[in-house]
This record gives sequence, structure tokens and C-alpha cells, in this order.
Amino acid sequence: MENLYLIVAYVLGTRAIGINGDLLWNLLKPDMRNFVAVTKGGILIVGRKTNDSFRKQLPGRHVIVVTNDLEYQPKYEVTNKSKIWKRHSIEDGLALAEILVDDVHEGEQNRKIFIAGGEQIYKQFLESSSFLPYEIIATEVDAPGLDGDAYFPPLPEYQYDEIPSLTQSFEKSEESEYAFKIKILRFSTFSA
Ligand SMILES: NC(=O)c1ccc[n+]([C@@H]2O[C@H](COP(=O)([O-])OP(=O)(O)OC[C@H]3O[C@@H](n4cnc5c(N)ncnc54)[C@H](OP(=O)(O)O)[C@@H]3O)[C@@H](O)[C@H]2O)c1
Repeated sequence: MENLYLIVAYVLGTRAIGINGDLLWNLLKPDMRNFVAVTKGGILIVGRKTNDSFRKQLPGRHVIVVTNDLEYQPKYEVTNKSKIWKRHSIEDGLALAEILVDDVHEGEQNRKIFIAGGEQIYKQFLESSSFLPYEIIATEVDAPGLDGDAYFPPLPEYQYDEIPSLTQSFEKSEESEYAFKIKILRFSTFSA
């Protein structure tokens, strides 16, 4: 799907994305800035556990939480009710995201839908043949051996090509406890 994106940060090697319901790192500021810039004004689809890991409502973007719990309420204070949604399957989440994307004025909003984790949500999208993202924005964290209890699943074979000219590299620094690269992987059918 051309307006469907997947955004993830995983450890190079182990493919770990989280532990105990949280991220594996405390400080990866340039990656966080990239996440904020790329997703601003867009629509995020997240699993309930990922939404529970947020300390506050993400400003300036719609968040669709996938959960089986009919009574689910976010743990954080909801400051903008019009931008937080609940759906009970990835299909229903995606259907809502497509309505929200169409229901905005040109130029006012980022017309992109982001699959934003965690493992269960990534897995269901990547294993579906109909809802594969057009691009994967993949942060590869250079933290040898760092492991967790949630993982980024393998990509469908031969379906994604890295666009090397778009890779950004970041060194370990005051702002970042690990070196990392942000890579863009594009669905191969769309590649030139
Ligand atoms: N590094 C990264 O880029 C990144 C990004 C996102 C998350 N994470 C990490 O990933 C971990 C969480 O991942 P996770 O796999 O444990 O959980 P998750 O995917 O965030 O959420 C799982 C929950 O989503 C709901 N769900 C999933 N599929 C569903 C379906 N088809 N229909 C209805 N509900 C569905 C269920 O909620 P109910 O139990 O309420 O029914 C399920 O328990 C955390 O550690 C988080 O920090 C990392």
C-alpha cells in the first residue's frame, strides 16, 4: 500500500525492539527526533502494549490502538480525544486510518499511515500479503548482543530493497548511547 509505512528501531543482530513493555535504550535522541519529524501530522497504528508504554499522548498525530479490550483506556492523560482511537483488529485499524487520511485538507496533514509496533503488530502486517508497507524506516542500533523480549520479525523474502543513498549514520555521542543507522527499505515492486 503506497501510503502505508512501517517505523521501527531494532538491535542489529538480535532484532530486539523492547523489554518489559519498554524500549531497550534511554538515550537515542537523534532517532527520536527523526520519529517525531517523520510521523508528525500522520496516523499511527500501535498495539495496546506499545500504547501503554507512552508516557503522554503523542501530540499532533492520530493514534489508533489495536486491542481486544472493549473497555480499553490509555494509561496517560488524553489531552486531545479527537486524535486517539481504538480498534479491535489490524484490518479495522487500517480501515479507520484510510478514512482519517482522506478526511483531511490537502497540505494540513502528513498523508501517511505508520505501523509503529510492537512485535505483534509488525508481525501481522508483515505476514499479510495485502497490507505490506511501501517503505520501512528502519533504525539499526549497533549494540552487539543487546537482547529483549520483543523482536522485529524477519521481512518477507525479496520484497524490500534498501535505498543506500537515503541511509543516515549516527555515532555514539552525548545524545545517543549507541551508534545507529536509519535505513529506508522500499517495497521492491515500487522500485525503479
Ligand atoms: N523499538 C521500536 O521501534 C518499538 C516500537 C514499538 C514498540 N516497541 C516495544 O515493543 C514491545 C511491545 O510489543 P508487543 O508485541 O509485546 O505488544 P504490542 O504489539 O505493542 O501490543 C500487543 C497487544 O495488541 C493487541 N493486539 C495485537 N494484535 C491484535 C489483533 N489482531 N486484534 C486485537 N488486538 C490485538 C493486544 O492487546 P490486548 O491485550 O489489549 O487485547 C495485544 O496484547 C514493548 O517493549 C515496546 O516498547 C518497540
